Amino acid sequence: MSAQKFAGRMTAPQITARKGADPIVCLTAYDAPTAAILDDHCDLILVGDSVGMVVHGLTTTVGVSLEMMIMHGQAVMRGSDKALVVVDLPFGSYEDSPETAFRNAARVMQETGCQAVKIESGSYAAETIAYLVERGIPVMSHVGLRPQSMNVLGGFRARGRSQKVADEIVENAIAAAKAGSFAVVVEGVSAELADKVTKAVDIPTIGIGASAGCDGQILVTPDMLGLFSRVPKFVKKYAAMQDIIEEAVASYAKEVKSRKFPGETNTYKFS
Ligand code: KIV
Repeated sequence: MSAQKFAGRMTAPQITARKGADPIVCLTAYDAPTAAILDDHCDLILVGDSVGMVVHGLTTTVGVSLEMMIMHGQAVMRGSDKALVVVDLPFGSYEDSPETAFRNAARVMQETGCQAVKIESGSYAAETIAYLVERGIPVMSHVGLRPQSMNVLGGFRARGRSQKVADEIVENAIAAAKAGSFAVVVEGVSAELADKVTKAVDIPTIGIGASAGCDGQILVTPDMLGLFSRVPKFVKKYAAMQDIIEEAVASYAKEVKSRKFPGETNTYKFS
């Protein structure tokens, strides 16, 4: 990454400064051309470990590796030059100790050029967040529904139905903020709980399946583009990409079979 490329990008402190101000626009990206389209519209692009499910066809994010995150992080950095790019630390790369988390986060930052990492933040995470931030790694936390823990939680259902779990989610967010996170993703909770978290922390909350009262919003881009027929309740489809691609591929197949494609405009003539 050139110094010039970094110069114009949104920074983690600029995102933090947006607490309670203009809503922060965030989406996920995993490749350079999509990142290039998102870059003019998003304050923050997340290279989410959702890549495992929406690009690689995994059923959960548990199988996502550090190498996958680095490869997709590099592509997104090549395609963008304005948004803050945050790369998810995948399952198994940060939970066991702050030292392991630092080694893996530093590798992600050095090999991709991204400016921050995200970790799913249970009660164990505060020490790790502080360790990373003190050593120069901006951290975005993630509370509420934490997809990497789906085997413990029993699925991808919204969280915080009981008072005990709702209180834990607020506590995790407060601990993550106090430890130095620059923002916190709040996923899959009631609007009431999301608003409570937003009031309880002095860093921006980025909602997904949360509340319009959050300081920003994020969606998984292939979901909001309508690439899949089944999406979670909280997703709004802003396009019907599955239908558009189906139609285009069917037209292509028909034209190949009838020898209509390639036509004159698609063939070379050297004379
Ligand atoms: O992996 C991801 O895309 C995420 C978002 C859903 C916030 O963590």
